[in-house]
Amino acid sequence: KELSAIRIDRDRLWKDLHTTCEWGKGERWGENATDIGMSRLASSDADKQARDWFVKTTQDLGCDVNVDAMGNIFAVRPGMDNSAPPTYAGSHMDTQPTGGRYDGILGVHAGIEALKTMKDNDMETEYPTGVINWTNEEGARFPISMISSGVWAGAIPLEKAYNLREVGSGNATQKSELERIGYLGPLEANHKANPIAAHFELHIEQGPILEASGGKIGAVEGVQAYKWHTITVNGRDCHTGTTDFQNRSDAMLTAAKLILHSHNRASEAGCLASTGILTLKPGSTNTVPGVVQFSLDIRSKEDAALLQLEETLKSEFSKIAQGEEIGGLNARGTKGRGCTVKWQLDTDSPATTFHEDCIKCVEESVSDMLGTSEGPNVQRMTSGAGHDSVYTARRAPTSMIFVPCRDGISHNPAEYCSQEDCGNGAQVLLGAMLRYDRL
Ligand code: GLV
Ligand code: MN
Ligand code: MN
Ligand code: MN
Repeated sequence: KELSAIRIDRDRLWKDLHTTCEWGKGERWGENATDIGMSRLASSDADKQARDWFVKTTQDLGCDVNVDAMGNIFAVRPGMDNSAPPTYAGSHMDTQPTGGRYDGILGVHAGIEALKTMKDNDMETEYPTGVINWTNEEGARFPISMISSGVWAGAIPLEKAYNLREVGSGNATQKSELERIGYLGPLEANHKANPIAAHFELHIEQGPILEASGGKIGAVEGVQAYKWHTITVNGRDCHTGTTDFQNRSDAMLTAAKLILHSHNRASEAGCLASTGILTLKPGSTNTVPGVVQFSLDIRSKEDAALLQLEETLKSEFSKIAQGEEIGGLNARGTKGRGCTVKWQLDTDSPATTFHEDCIKCVEESVSDMLGTSEGPNVQRMTSGAGHDSVYTARRAPTSMIFVPCRDGISHNPAEYCSQEDCGNGAQVLLGAMLRYDRL
């Protein structure tokens, strides 16, 4: 059959997606049932419900379903020659605490829809095809992003991943929670034990580029570099009413300066810097905090620029904490007694370049699958966000497909991708997988 004659079912995709979004509903932002954001943290009860749906649905499709030791779920539809590894669609079903319905979720559903479409058309692929649901891509609950594809790729030690504690005051670890929900699988979490022929990931862009240009499909060439650090500022607890400014080692005031400074330096260097987690100890109105921890997420398209920014900040943070004037950040003539700064690297994701064969499969799939009337409405682009495809790219040919999302907003309940754009993306995903299968 000609590829252009094989159509996914856009209504079925839309319906399935919003059905699984019943599990882990978050904040409401609009009027409709589909206008409720998601809060489906990794290995939560809601995540288990979504996983159970994934397993049942793919088994009903005739897939072999396996779970590895990181809870990654691999559903495989046999091909004619099953001695070769599968061509996969992969993404994630966990979300941010104030997430939307499309980040990750769309990619998994589109993969399942691709397999359903193959079945509807009685297609036999040359080699096996499949769908992967990667565990804790977000790094929101257990704070390393893409951690399970990272373990699969051999980039993150299993023990480190297992021992990761949840953000906040809970004691759960990634391992204990996978065990609790029944997804600590028997399969080794390793690319050798569980090889991939190629990995395609459909994802909303999570940014404004496609929407601004009127583009329908992005063929993703690569992903920018990023590093996550935990910064600890150590000062001294003291009474807010009796300690004058000169006598304080104010960890919070110092952290505030460091965060502002990271923003300014990143801005000068054409990079990004963000703080999303901030904790103060002891957390009392009338005690100047002695310990403050904050996350620092820095990003750049260039590894060298990112390293330069990191080195500059490392040296300048310590100086600022000691009261030195850098970038005019000192508070009104008070140097104080100074604080110390410690850095801990949590995530290190260098810039990624995807595989030309896979990028071409995506581009060619656009003309196959969306037809000539829509023309080659596809543009190459770089991802600002990290994805599991970053790690699969280390071990297998990989690329991604982007579709536009409204106002470029993501990690927000108002995240939205239209039914048409979801359908276009799934159609292109199916075409890319079939093209790769025939390479
Ligand atoms: C990965 O999810 C990221 O933070 O970009
Ligand atoms: Mn995602
Ligand atoms: Mn995300
Ligand atoms: Mn992500």
